[in-house]
Amino acid sequence: MANEATKTAKLSIEGEATIELPIYAGNEGQDVIDVGKLTSQGYFTYDPGFVSTAACESEITYIDGDQGILLHRGYPIDQLAEHSNYLELCYLLLNGELPDEAEGKLFVDTIKNHTMVHEQLNNFFRGFRRDAHPMAIMCGVVGALSAFYHDSLDIDNPEHRRITAHRLIAKMPTLAAMSYKYSIGQPFIYPRNDLGYAENFLHMMFATPCEDYQVSPTLARAMDRIFLLHADHEQNASTSTVRLAGSTGANPFACIAAGIAALWGPSHGGANEGVLNMLDEIGGVENIDQYIQKAKDPNDPFRIMGFGHRVYKNYDPRAKVMQETCHEVLAELGITDDPILEMAQALEKIALEDEYFVSRRLYPNVDFYSGIILKAIGIPVEMFTVIFATGRTPGWIAHWNEMISGPYKIGRPRQLYKGSSKREYSAKT
Ligand code: SDX
Repeated sequence: MANEATKTAKLSIEGEATIELPIYAGNEGQDVIDVGKLTSQGYFTYDPGFVSTAACESEITYIDGDQGILLHRGYPIDQLAEHSNYLELCYLLLNGELPDEAEGKLFVDTIKNHTMVHEQLNNFFRGFRRDAHPMAIMCGVVGALSAFYHDSLDIDNPEHRRITAHRLIAKMPTLAAMSYKYSIGQPFIYPRNDLGYAENFLHMMFATPCEDYQVSPTLARAMDRIFLLHADHEQNASTSTVRLAGSTGANPFACIAAGIAALWGPSHGGANEGVLNMLDEIGGVENIDQYIQKAKDPNDPFRIMGFGHRVYKNYDPRAKVMQETCHEVLAELGITDDPILEMAQALEKIALEDEYFVSRRLYPNVDFYSGIILKAIGIPVEMFTVIFATGRTPGWIAHWNEMISGPYKIGRPRQLYKGSSKREYSAKT
């Protein structure tokens, strides 16, 4: 639906006619200035890192960074974490409304019936070294899924988009567990339809063919909560990557593989692995001040991993829920004095009282505590970002589907060119 201008911005450029730009209002959050006509006036906008750029319209997730608010289809993340579960949130993200009992049961059963991957896909793993980073494997095997599902690659067919969404949500845990099993030289464990989503994932991660393996309900609940807290987050770098790839008409498996690649970076989804490595490097509470100084030194590339956020200039609401979950899981596991948690809490306290962090409104983000829970569950550090990618899949797919379902254009930003002007060729002598 075309947007109605609520106000007009007037751009006056010295010596030139004033350019009038329409302003549109969203249901929540900042209004936007439509700069589309600037090109015809001979200008581009310039916004490296897209700090002030709204790249699209969306109805899926809203973030108020100043207030630390996160809504999925209008529902606050803390209420979803307390009352909902991961598959129900997947349904909500994809369909816009919570499922009733029958819709919810059908969705769970549908996902269960897509959890296996083609047996040929097993061969893809054999090409990797055993010590390959599991994110490298996930980039490869998720993109390769498009080689197996020619029956559902018509992106203009809503039914194809629906089944692809189900296949990706269902198969990501299977592929994630396979990437772990491959790294430790153990046989792949098949998914089981009698287990819940998170329970099934932990079973595929830690069971062996040699004996029955019971997943702890506490750990299954914690795993489901971690998937839920990672499910979507507006137009972050990896979601924007999925949208940009999707805008070319690429198949959804390739788009999700592109999202996985973007998520891997330590400034984004790789931060959860970075937090544990950072805490390991700090080594003890007595060294925290030294590392706080490093983080504040503009000439030192060291950052406090799990701190700061492009949008949140308040506490990331997911980090609050994650911290509560952390305490619950450690207590239920009988882990009372986890040195890593103690160091993280000491680091958080010191940073939140330090003027450098306060003045820059730097707070813990979703990655700060997640790694401590994952470690307590028994997930190895190199698998942390794979867990993030698995949890984020419904968000990526919902945004891809939202774009493809309506009118869209191929994404093609311009630039401020600072290179050589035209010059005649002459070979160097
Ligand atoms: C995720 O976008 C999303 O929604 C992402 C995400 C999602 O769910 O998809 O929320 C998931 O990616 C969370 C962020 C995970 N990354 C980290 O925890 C890595 C550490 N954080 C930083 O790299 C940084 O905070 C970013 C990348 C997250 C945000 O960077 P910005 O928005 O570009 O901010 P910036 O680098 O311009 O920082 C502003 C100032 C700078 O100092 P000055 O130039 O003003 O002197 O704050 C400083 C930065 O140096 N700063 C930090 C810091 N984060 C920012 N200083 C020390 N430690 C940090 N962590």
